[in-house]
Amino acid sequence: MIVAANWKMNLSLEAAGALAHGLAMRRLGSVRRLLFVPHPYVLPMSIRLQASDVRLGGQDCHQAESGAHTGDVSAMMLRDCGAVTVLLGHSERRSDHSESSALVAAKAAQALAYGLDIVVCIGETLAERQAGVAEDVVIQQLRDSLPTEMPAGKIIIAYEPVWAIGTGMVASLDDIAAMHQAIAKALPSSQNGTGEGSIPVLYGGSVKADNAADIFALPHVSGGLVGGASLELRAFDAICDAAADITTVAGT
Ligand code: PGA
Repeated sequence: MIVAANWKMNLSLEAAGALAHGLAMRRLGSVRRLLFVPHPYVLPMSIRLQASDVRLGGQDCHQAESGAHTGDVSAMMLRDCGAVTVLLGHSERRSDHSESSALVAAKAAQALAYGLDIVVCIGETLAERQAGVAEDVVIQQLRDSLPTEMPAGKIIIAYEPVWAIGTGMVASLDDIAAMHQAIAKALPSSQNGTGEGSIPVLYGGSVKADNAADIFALPHVSGGLVGGASLELRAFDAICDAAADITTVAGT
């Protein structure tokens, strides 16, 4: 099980440090925790998290290695500042910055070239779901957003219905299960199981302490990508506990 925190553009440096300290105080052997922070916080948080098992990441990187791209951040810079992973193609990047799936794939290739793991986000809008094309849209995004080279163990997918992000609206368990099954089917057969080298698929969109256990128990759901609830230590800890419980049940 994997639980990823996405702080987005929130928290003062002081509040971020306190939250990271709280995360670092816990050890959750059975749950992999990832933390995606705003770019200026990557270096200070990497220092805070040094002795912890939390894996730190940026929230985007540029597709080029370096160059005249004012305001952008390269995969190398993230890595040099202590990130080991990067979030790519989040729906807020796709809408705020018009990022296409082809661009996301180029960023993915660049991040992998610098040794970063990647979490690639895909998800349909409300209009697309209402029009009955959610699955087609998501599978197309999946195909177009992944790089051609897919090294084992470096890639995570996050399925986040756009209308469920930050709204308190969660997709129904049936809809989540159906979409995760469709995604698993669309992945190369060597990478769609639970075995070594397989690609984990997280659910994101208003994951909270009170719905995490039900979502994480669904087949083909390997954990969650958490925005709002990751800004509060107790809420995030409770979501991680729900993931740890699933791992324990699965292991017995
Ligand atoms: P949310 O955000 O948990 O606040 O809905 C999830 C995300 O955007 O990653």
